[in-house]
Amino acid sequence: MMHDFHYEEGELYCEQVRVSDIAERVGTPFYLYSYQTFTEHLLKLQKAFRAAKPLICFSMKANSNLAVLRALVGKGAGLDIVSGGELFRARKAGCAPSKIVYAGVGKTDAEIEAAIRTGILLFNVESIQELDRIGRLARKLNRKVKVSLRVNPNVDPDTHEHIATGGAESKFGLDFDTVRLIFMRQEKYPNLAISGIHVHIGSQIVKGTPFVKAFRKVLIFLTHLEQEGYRIQYLNLGGGLGIIYSDERPQTAEQFAKQVLPLFQKKKYKLILEPGRFIAGNSGVFVSRVIYIKPTKVKNFAIIDGGMNDLIRPALYDSFHDVWPLRQTRSGEKQTYDVVGPICESGDFLAKNRKIQKLQSGDLLAFASAGAYGFSMASNYNARPRPAEVMVRGGRFAIVRRREIYSDLVRGERIPSWVRYK
Ligand code: LLP
Repeated sequence: MMHDFHYEEGELYCEQVRVSDIAERVGTPFYLYSYQTFTEHLLKLQKAFRAAKPLICFSMKANSNLAVLRALVGKGAGLDIVSGGELFRARKAGCAPSKIVYAGVGKTDAEIEAAIRTGILLFNVESIQELDRIGRLARKLNRKVKVSLRVNPNVDPDTHEHIATGGAESKFGLDFDTVRLIFMRQEKYPNLAISGIHVHIGSQIVKGTPFVKAFRKVLIFLTHLEQEGYRIQYLNLGGGLGIIYSDERPQTAEQFAKQVLPLFQKKKYKLILEPGRFIAGNSGVFVSRVIYIKPTKVKNFAIIDGGMNDLIRPALYDSFHDVWPLRQTRSGEKQTYDVVGPICESGDFLAKNRKIQKLQSGDLLAFASAGAYGFSMASNYNARPRPAEVMVRGGRFAIVRRREIYSDLVRGERIPSWVRYK
């Protein structure tokens, strides 16, 4: 089962809850998550990789709602973080420090210190400058800190250019020569234990080939390192597993594990995985209401109360999110629409040129596969309060983040006296 959203007698359900009932209670727009789908996808990976018992660190940039994190952490997941803010959220969600890994090219002193004090498992280091910085701060705090080095294997992940990260041109990671040099100069870092290698080549990768290519390169490199007497404990294979948005045919967790596990059979590495989209993508939808139908001479616009500030992926990556009416019409008569938001930009669309059932003002629509990089990328652009987030489990639902109100919009702002008075 890909997810727990389905139709019953023409009505969209999330698990056992009718989505339109939630819309009536909560208002629109909102994000809706299925507890079952979230945890099931984690379980699928855990099962597929059971032979290796990896630490699966959910990449929380995909969805950092506390209830989501708590659900996954409760099922044994760790978390992959990229900022001090994510560290804060991870701790609030009850994630053990020993299951937190920290990536990103621009970690600041304050963020590094906070993570050292928390006692996270590993820093995924992306430059020599960062390594020096962590070494210095570890000495200052009198700690021994475990780091893994992110290598950039220079392979093409065959995905959207904005989410490809493993090419030589990218800002991420270190080339193999530099990584080797760091191992040779380990004694320069008495407060660091260089314990692992990290590799993440990009996102929404639907075929196994780029992964296998990258992992093979890493393995060959590691074999050379071992011949030179350098050992690692952790091998972090990153995230990047693609999902179905429309007609993709991505590898399943089982297929992925079957391709990947044999590579490392004879090795004793503790494997780490950092999936984000695979776990979150199909676990959530974005629900919005049609305000106007605006026919023009060339097309029909369905103008809805959700916009690019709520779900930016179509504007940013031209991404496809299937449109599911909350109530299917009996006639089934279809029409082609551009489904657009109220934001003052032509890039503000959620679906373009889409054949959907005939719509009218007041109709409710769900945009599928919005559980990953949906709310987490939402903004207040056009002074729009960010939407509510709701979670369903079985026959129950709860608001897991209340809709923002206008006072949230100006929280923290002040007008200095020299602006106020002439
Ligand atoms: N690990 C690292 C180091 C990452 O940079 C990322 C994602 C992940 C893991 C998780 O990747 P995933 O399993 O979700 O593919 N906003 C874009 C996606 C950006 C991905 C950034 N890095 C989107 O909406 O498609």
